Amino acid sequence: MQEKLRLGVNIDHVATLRNARGGAHPDPVDAALVAIEAGADGITAHLREDRRHIRDHDIMKLRDRISVPLNFEMAATDKMVEIAINILPHAACLVPEMREELTTEGGLDVIGHEEKLRDVVSELQAAGIRVSLFIDANSEQIAAASAVGADIVEFHTGTYCGSDAEMRLVELQHIIDGAKRASELGLECHGGHGLSFSTVGPIAAIPQIVELNIGHFLMGEAMTMGLAKAIAKMRHYMDEARG
Ligand code: PXP
Repeated sequence: MQEKLRLGVNIDHVATLRNARGGAHPDPVDAALVAIEAGADGITAHLREDRRHIRDHDIMKLRDRISVPLNFEMAATDKMVEIAINILPHAACLVPEMREELTTEGGLDVIGHEEKLRDVVSELQAAGIRVSLFIDANSEQIAAASAVGADIVEFHTGTYCGSDAEMRLVELQHIIDGAKRASELGLECHGGHGLSFSTVGPIAAIPQIVELNIGHFLMGEAMTMGLAKAIAKMRHYMDEARG
């Protein structure tokens, strides 16, 4: 029996919709509570430096109101580290926000920022926060993630999701190989970005991956079928693939 695959629901785009009108509706925290009721195992939110969706008060309210682990996505900057240590989420996922922090495919360039990331990882861990690095499934980046002391790697599934059928298989194999490598190095494996009902299955079937973080597609489906139904349907595809 494989370990249960956790679903982290990313609520960023509820805030995108709210901010489009500048008011208080819809509230991403209300969406998080619906997601939890519908079976989300965790809630993910990204406090971007430009605050384009989630704002500081959302994070504080989330921390106070939700009963499941909060996965706080953040850039590896001193200011964000200070905020994370103030919030004390269950986990922090370090993501690239600046062009130069990106590898060619879009994950964090750990190799190019080893020294800074080692410091950020250890500061967050010293506060009791588990640290994840959002990277491409590339063996050098995985080795660097291990070298800087990360607890978790979250594989960027965006290229896999955005490829045609032939290339998608190639991208899937990179993620399968990456998950094996990361797990051998003692890293917990997560996945996320761009996942939908039609792309989630093969990623959910990778035994080393124990958490998927999904946002944009679920919020899109929420417009028509409702958030609870969309989460239940995603959970069904995940469980089916997990066997
Ligand atoms: N994981 C990480 C690290 C992300 O940055 C994002 C996007 O905010 C996601 C998962 C979720 O991606 P999507 O909204 O495309 O499902």
